[in-house]
Amino acid sequence: MSFPSVRPRRLRKTAAIRDMLRENKVTVSDLIAPLFIVPGSGVRKEISSLPGQYQLSVDMLCEEAKRLQDLGVPSVLLFGIPPCKDEIGAVSYDDAGVVQQGLRALKEVTPELCLIADLCFCEYTTHGHCGVIVDGEVDNDLTLVETAKQTVSLARAGADIIAPSGMMDGMVAAIRDALDDSGFSDRIIMSYAAKFASSYYGPFREAVDSSPQFGDRRSYQMDPANGDEAMREIEEDINQGADILMVKPALAYLDIIARAKDSFSVPLAAYNVSGEYSMIKNAAQAGLVDGDAMMLETLLSIKRAGADLIITYFAAEAAKQLR
Ligand code: PBG
Ligand code: ZN
Repeated sequence: MSFPSVRPRRLRKTAAIRDMLRENKVTVSDLIAPLFIVPGSGVRKEISSLPGQYQLSVDMLCEEAKRLQDLGVPSVLLFGIPPCKDEIGAVSYDDAGVVQQGLRALKEVTPELCLIADLCFCEYTTHGHCGVIVDGEVDNDLTLVETAKQTVSLARAGADIIAPSGMMDGMVAAIRDALDDSGFSDRIIMSYAAKFASSYYGPFREAVDSSPQFGDRRSYQMDPANGDEAMREIEEDINQGADILMVKPALAYLDIIARAKDSFSVPLAAYNVSGEYSMIKNAAQAGLVDGDAMMLETLLSIKRAGADLIITYFAAEAAKQLR
């Protein structure tokens, strides 16, 4: 059978029919909101590269988190901008660090929120790389030692999920061991398993002041050309004990999300990164596109590709539209 008996437009005729047959939906419970914590109090400073996103002191973080909780957003991903940096990023495992303070405060004021702590070193090191530098290179195994320390500090402060973003080999196993050895076998690992060396991170690096002071991240983040390698990275992280896997960025990597969903039956997250957000925001501000429509279409495309969870700076705005 084919045309004229087959007429696909019959199924698009009314809003009711379209609603009944819609294959994919973004829901508020899919969304994770990234938040940036700075020292001090009363700070709510807009990030120029990320319109509508703020650097927040812990008190303001609490306000923002309450707002997200009221909107039904189930989870936040915390990044820290510390008062000082050093060669190895030791302040990242200071129990009085900004993220640790933020975690403790949010456990009090928003107990229902799932708290995810990004685990990396680039925000905390003077050189801006994601680990310990030896002879001009990031030393993998020394970085794992530091990773274990940051893990325990974040878990102690209340992180429900540890999300390592440094792309070090063995980082998931190092975190699992550190958690299990310190009585936190209940804590979840969400691994940035397939994280590409991407130009789409530009606005984020401005937001947290984490640009590498020499070289680039291509010796640890993945080559954007590689899909098979992304599958191997994901498989390896599953074997090391990752509970949730992540692909990052999302939009230029929808094929990777789709392959990962097909190949592995694990919860899959995608990170709708800063450059993806800023492009839409700027295009909308310039009057080139309908920003709300483009936001929802973008999130839907990530969901349709196969992501179960979407980390997105649009979380609050999308939540309002989706209610
Ligand atoms: C740091 C980190 C980055 C992002 C999350 N964690 C930047 C980078 O790797 O340079 C990017 C997030 C975004 O662009 O929204 N490990
Ligand atoms: Zn990093």
